[in-house]
Amino acid sequence: MLYRTLLRPILFRLPPETAHELALHSLPLVLGTRLARDFVGGRCQRSCFGDLQRLGLSFKNPVGLAAGFDKNGIALEALATIGFGHIEAGTVTYQSQPGNQRPRLFRLPRDQALINRAGFNNDGAEAFAARVSKHRPDCVLGVSIGKSRAATNDEAVADYLKCFEIVYAVADYIAVNVSSPNTPGLRDLQKAEQLEMLLSALQQRNQELVERTARPQLMPLLIKLAPDLQSRELELIVDVAKRTHIAGIIATNTTIDREGLQTAPERVAACGAGGLSGAPLRARSTQIIANLFQLSGGSMNIIGVGGIFTAEDAWEKICAGAGLVQLYTGFIYEGPAVVRDINDGLAAIVKRDGFASLDEAIGSRAKELAGAG
Ligand SMILES: Cc1cc2nc3c(=O)[nH]c(=O)nc-3n(C[C@H](O)[C@H](O)[C@H](O)COP(=O)(O)O)c2cc1C
Repeated sequence: MLYRTLLRPILFRLPPETAHELALHSLPLVLGTRLARDFVGGRCQRSCFGDLQRLGLSFKNPVGLAAGFDKNGIALEALATIGFGHIEAGTVTYQSQPGNQRPRLFRLPRDQALINRAGFNNDGAEAFAARVSKHRPDCVLGVSIGKSRAATNDEAVADYLKCFEIVYAVADYIAVNVSSPNTPGLRDLQKAEQLEMLLSALQQRNQELVERTARPQLMPLLIKLAPDLQSRELELIVDVAKRTHIAGIIATNTTIDREGLQTAPERVAACGAGGLSGAPLRARSTQIIANLFQLSGGSMNIIGVGGIFTAEDAWEKICAGAGLVQLYTGFIYEGPAVVRDINDGLAAIVKRDGFASLDEAIGSRAKELAGAG
């Protein structure tokens, strides 16, 4: 409430990226106090769901922060105190890079959406790992890795491998981002042949690292997909995911589609190229999740992301097939309390709909939702 009536109007007067940087840098200061932590902190974060076992890890609750919010890992401890069950930091690339020219982030309030073409602006894998090793959050930490802009697609495997090795020590799981629309050619890595080469190489290195380090088991490796894939492409990707024994799929990243928006077309066009996130993405990402669940016969761990603002939105993703959910745009529009609201709401919905547990509901409406969208 405080966020929507007081803070958001102030933040939304600033250019979107300035507001983001301000929020990110003030979070550790603001949440340094016990009072503030108690105020925003999740009552539900430890109690309502017990420990959720996913990807061989233990999650306090199913709600996570999606990649891109804290690319450099500068506010992870503070973000964890808000009540997220997991945080996906990054996307981190092997090389540090400035990203695209500003402005590169735009708000579409009428659509409860954002458009961004950030282009993996980040300090690079070495700086990220050094920082995060000293400031680990009190929740599961995923690290999203991407291809450095300077690396061609032929050099992609080597580039991802270097990044993977560096962040390996600080991550609980690693997400391979092959779906950002803002790095030229990146989405081509979702094509079955290229994807299989990339994932096989990463899994081989993963195995070697288990033998070389004290880790008792493979690092859970996930891929993050675009919402703009066709059914046949999803089918091929699920086959590759099974063959390479990856731990799961994150669905979805932002869309390049602009259909059905309420914002005036000339305003949308003025934003230019980039990925659209938030409410307009909701149905499409749910449909992809349901399709992935169906295609994998329910065997694949899916993290559902795209247009989640409320507990009902999160619940629909779970019923489509997601075992965990994430949000980014909903966090910008609704503020920190949204995490607790979704967790509290989910606990109530599980009971309302007569399920014994959250796990029991996963994929319960996949067949119906695979056709919607
Ligand atoms: C400003 C911005 C930056 C993002 N950066 C990344 C990124 O670096 N890596 C990534 O995998 N996804 C990134 N995303 C995509 C989100 O993680 C998420 O998949 C997408 O926004 C859909 O979820 P939402 O509707 O809850 O925002 C970014 C999204 C936004 C809005």
